[in-house]
Amino acid sequence: PVLILLGPPGAGKGTQARMLEEKYALIQLSTGDLLRAAVATGTEAGQRAKAVMEAGDLVSDEIVIAILHDRLREPDCAKGVILDGFPRTTVQAEALDALLQTTGQQINAAISLEVEDAAMVDRISGRFTCGGCGEGYHDRFKPTAKPNTCDKCGSTEMKRRSDDNAETVELRLQAYHDQTAPLITYYENAGALNRIDAMGPIGKIASDLSAVVSKAT
Ligand code: AP5
Ligand code: ZN
Repeated sequence: PVLILLGPPGAGKGTQARMLEEKYALIQLSTGDLLRAAVATGTEAGQRAKAVMEAGDLVSDEIVIAILHDRLREPDCAKGVILDGFPRTTVQAEALDALLQTTGQQINAAISLEVEDAAMVDRISGRFTCGGCGEGYHDRFKPTAKPNTCDKCGSTEMKRRSDDNAETVELRLQAYHDQTAPLITYYENAGALNRIDAMGPIGKIASDLSAVVSKAT
């Protein structure tokens, strides 16, 4: 199966994708994570993407599609993927349709996580991630059980993202509304859209999402 998670920065795409990955034995494919890995290893694409990401802008379609394309063709993705943060423009959505035609897969559901902009700054500014296993946390909404220690792997190396400041979050939200929100209509027209209220507690959203995924796969 191919599932798409749509939603602005901080909507909970990563949080929910990681839970779906475990529950349905799918692969979470986050273009944000793939780009951050490219920046960290200093590949050519990473060098080009770094300043754009720090400014809260979208990386070029050309770079993102190439990265996604390579990852999607790795053998583990054959069991099914959750696309987290891709597609983000109409050009990317069309490229995905073309790519899936060549692999013989199709989109089971595009799920829009619907939230209020005003809450997103709080969600993003409290976010941190385990450097050991990648589990995501939040100072207030999802704290670790022991201070500064990952519940899952015990690592004490916690990371915060350089684009998670209030100023850049506003620009990322702007990019979402200008360039990504039109995809809601794109997938509605394709008959694949499901909307989920993503303002409630993480567990409630997870069960609403599971209901959609079970029906669609
Ligand atoms: P990316 O890494 O995709 O970031 P994003 O879309 O801005 O999304 P986030 O990761 O910030 O949020 P999320 O929805 O995953 O929320 P999370 O679950 O962490 O992209 C980064 C950059 O890369 C982009 O700006 C762009 O430059 C570039 N890029 C990436 N893909 C691209 C593409 N396709 N094309 C072009 N450029 C691209 O949750 C946030 C926090 O809230 C966490 O702390 C979590 O614990 C907490 N939380 C989650 N759910 C809830 C809840 N229900 N209640 C309370 N707290 C919650
Ligand atoms: Zn961990």
